[in-house]
Formats: sequence, C-alpha cells, structure tokens
Amino acid sequence: MKGKDLLSVADLGGEDIRLLISDAIDMKAQGWLSILSGKTLAIMFEKPSLRTRVSFELAMRQLGGETVYLSPAEVGLGERESVPDVARVLSRYVDAIAARTFSHQTLEVLAGYSSVPVINALSDWEHPCQALADLLTIYEKKGELQGLTLAFVGDGNNVARSLMLAASLTGMNFRIATPSGYAIEDDIFNLAQNNALSAGGEIFYTDDPRQAVTGADVVYTDVWASMGQEAEAEARRQIFAGYQVDGELLSLAREDAIFMHPLPAHRGEEVAEGILDTPQSVVFDQAENRLHMQKALLAGILGGLEIPLAGYR
Ligand code: CP
Ligand code: NVA
Repeated sequence: MKGKDLLSVADLGGEDIRLLISDAIDMKAQGWLSILSGKTLAIMFEKPSLRTRVSFELAMRQLGGETVYLSPAEVGLGERESVPDVARVLSRYVDAIAARTFSHQTLEVLAGYSSVPVINALSDWEHPCQALADLLTIYEKKGELQGLTLAFVGDGNNVARSLMLAASLTGMNFRIATPSGYAIEDDIFNLAQNNALSAGGEIFYTDDPRQAVTGADVVYTDVWASMGQEAEAEARRQIFAGYQVDGELLSLAREDAIFMHPLPAHRGEEVAEGILDTPQSVVFDQAENRLHMQKALLAGILGGLEIPLAGYR
C-alpha cells in the first residue's frame, strides 16, 4: 500500500482491507503515536465536509504529521489553475494529497500528474474512506464480516458503490434496493459479483426495499440527493419516497441488526425521524471510526507503520 493512490475500493484487495481493519483497531487502542513525524498531507476539497476533513486533520496530528487545508475558494481547481499543474506543484510540497472533487475524473487527472499518493476523500463516483471505516464499524459490532448481509436502501451513489466493492472483497452479502434508473452501473456491479465469487458472498439488486432488508444484519442508507445534485433534490424526494428506512422496514431485518448512515442525514427523508437515535443506530460510532481508519490508511500509504499488529487478519 505504501506510496499508492486510493481512488477506488477496487485499488485494494480483501487482504488489504482486513489488514487496514486490524491496523485501525490497533490505532484506536493506542491513540497518539509519532510514526508520521515529518510528513505532510494536503487536504484539498471542492465540496463541504465535517467528518472527512476533521478526521484527516486529526489523523495526521495524532500520528505526528501535519496537514495543509485548501478550501474550494483557495485553489479553484481547474479554474484558477489547471488540475495537472496543481498536482505537480502540490507534489513538491507535501507527501500525500487527500482530495474531495465533484468529478471523479478530476481525481484521476490529479493522481495521474501527482508524484505523491492521492486519496479519494469523496468524488461523485466513490467514497472509499467511508466504506473502509464502515467495515471497521461492522466488524467491531458483529465480530466478523464474512457471511454477514448488508442491505443498502436508496440511491446507487458514491457511498453505495464503495460499500458494494468493499463488501464483495470481504465475503459479505450485499443487497441493494434502488428505484429503477438509480441502480449501480453494470460494469461496477459485475466487478463486485466477480469479487464475491472468489470471496464467498452474494451481490443482489432489487427495486423492493423489503426484499433487500428482510433478514439483513446491517441496514444502510444515504441521502437521496448527493452534493452537486441539489437541483434534483425535489424530484428525487418524489422518486425515492418509497425508499425511506423507517421502523417498519427495519423490523424486517434481523432482531440484532444495526442501522448505518454515513451522515450528514436528512431526518424525515431517507431515514424516518428517530431512527438515528435508537440503540440499533451506530451512526456516531461510524463517524468516529473515520478517524481510526484514516490513521491506518495514512500509516499504510505514507509507510510509517511500525507498531505491532494484532486482531483481525
Ligand atoms: N460522511 C462524510 O463523508 O461526511 P462529510 O461530508 O462531513 O465529510
Ligand atoms: N452521497 C453523499 C455522501 C456524503 C458523505 C454525497 O456525495 O453528498
């Protein structure tokens, strides 16, 4: 993993994910370390963020490194300066770049021209750091991943794609319910199905949320209109109306099922009022785990990992 980009969960194998989970568990137990002393991460965002920005900044600080935050207004990625030039300049200053972009292609160009690793901090296509932290959370709650069933209800979006790939690489069963027209694209769905064949899980699509959720161990949803889709928000509210996760839908899952959401959430839209605040909901553990997983990721990519590893392999 040292020196590599992380643009997609597909850049990882199942063993990488298991190792990251193990390392994140160790990081969580050990707290502050000084393994990235002298290393600097640029955090360059075209969109707003609470969790991703704070967790990247604190992850570097807790590992002894530094960050430089570049807001959308400061960089003007592709407007004030071309993406290749930004990549080449930043590479002269920092050891890695975490970037949040509207278009995934921007991220690919950035990575193509950067001589330091580029980490996808969310694009319109994927959100790999979220999926990795989510698997850490599921592992902590359930003690395993292999054989568990995750039901994703809502939009076949960036979060769904990354989660499907991560589940498929770790032997989880992944069911997704979306309105037709909002399903995950065939090429990435087929990639996940191929992964699942080797890892021992099943990937399944339906337009019926009840079918997806029945008997699931994990019920997951995300916003219906992602950042950049604000103009479609009202239309999407109509289209996704039957896809809200409410108490009745959740009751079809296993009795010990957990509810997950990457946040920010729109209570009363994709998730009914109150669900986020029930004991079944692990959304704030999820948010915390962004920090621990990103510490493991940064340690792996920046090559500073020298602590003894134990736990999940
Ligand atoms: N879940 C997540 O990525 O949150 P932010 O957009 O606040 O970073
Ligand atoms: N799908 C959402 C996730 C936010 C963390 C978005 O892209 O806005």
